[in-house]
Amino acid sequence: MPPYRRTFVIFCILAPLFYIYWWKFIAPDTLSGLLSSTASENVFNKTLGFPRIFVINLPPRTDRRDAMVLAGAVSNISFSWIDGVASDQVSDRIIPEDDRGHSAGARGSWRSHMNALQAVVDRNLGSALILEDDIDWDIRLKSQLQTFAAASRTWLRESKSSRAEVELLDVIKYADRDVKDVYGNGWDVLWLGHCGADLPSAQKTATSPLIVTIPADETVPAPKHLKPHPFALQDKLGDNYPPHTRVVHASGGNVCTLAYAVSREGARKLLLELNGHYDTQWDLMLQKWCEGGYITKEGGASEEHQDAPPICLTVQPPLFSHYYPKGGASNIQGQGGGYAKGTGSPYIRLSVRENLRRLVTGEPLSEMVDQLPDDGDPIWK
Ligand SMILES: *[C@@H]1O[C@H](CO)[C@@H](O)[C@H](O)[C@H]1NC(C)=O
Ligand SMILES: *[C@@H]1O[C@H](CO)[C@@H](O)[C@H](O)[C@H]1NC(C)=O
Repeated sequence: MPPYRRTFVIFCILAPLFYIYWWKFIAPDTLSGLLSSTASENVFNKTLGFPRIFVINLPPRTDRRDAMVLAGAVSNISFSWIDGVASDQVSDRIIPEDDRGHSAGARGSWRSHMNALQAVVDRNLGSALILEDDIDWDIRLKSQLQTFAAASRTWLRESKSSRAEVELLDVIKYADRDVKDVYGNGWDVLWLGHCGADLPSAQKTATSPLIVTIPADETVPAPKHLKPHPFALQDKLGDNYPPHTRVVHASGGNVCTLAYAVSREGARKLLLELNGHYDTQWDLMLQKWCEGGYITKEGGASEEHQDAPPICLTVQPPLFSHYYPKGGASNIQGQGGGYAKGTGSPYIRLSVRENLRRLVTGEPLSEMVDQLPDDGDPIWK
């Protein structure tokens, strides 16, 4: 064998050995850094780290579907569609007799969300994100979700301790290396898009009152802008925390089901429980379920069995919000009866919807409009 070939063969044998040695002993820090960032990288994929994203759309509302498809495309997010159901298509027969008097106009929405849960259960998905079709999000959604995922894993771990508050200082520091689910294990619902939620209090929370705080998040609007519509009172979040803090905690008092993720277990439990009930509109049913309101005590022959309360986490301000389109039919009714013919979305700064034209024409991030500037008025016309 000529000497150069021998050298080459020896090199081929030694190189992988040295590589393994380096990998295992010299660079464990960089290795764990790599592993923890890949755990969160799934959040950057086209379904935001969930196996599927379902969007509920009433087929006649092609306008909404067009707009969502476009907003998803410019955000590099891909959707699966669930046909919404109109209330008059929901037969009386499927509504429990005692419940027939309740919110007749909201039956369609209830059935549409049930169909989305049914799809999650039927396909045996590990989890799914369920969206309504009139929503908005920030251009920086994927990095917001990376931070949220670290916060939710932190909550799931720390809620077993008796701490009341944990600050999420550093995403990587809190990244779990061997999580299969980037959002952590053991949650039922992640309520990411709502139009109001209560901060937890020890008395009212069915699970843990723990709050994970995310300080200095520039995507969080200033306290004066933290409200679900222009006439609303300012959220308590702004009074209780320094400006630009986001918080993650167990959901309580949440309204509007604009966006929520369900785990496999969460979807099964919800389908089991809410198929037999139709108390009120869907968001209030999910609110009650999350607060442990449907837990049934089954007094068996032997011991009384009581299910553990579900684990629903939420985030304030929300990561998904209602979008009020230009000239849209949905005028916003304010507290005290005022109306705003609004255009825009509360809580969202670099809005995908408001910047759709700029995004489609490929303008740079620096050209995007901030709907809720720190030193200005919101863009509500
Ligand atoms: C969209 O996301 C996919 C999956 O993460 C990635 O491979 C691709 O580069 C992204 N495209 C753009 C334009 O960001
Ligand atoms: C995105 O990541 C999640 C979690 O790993 C995975 O279940 C899902 O299939 C991925 N989606 C795509 C489109 O790759």
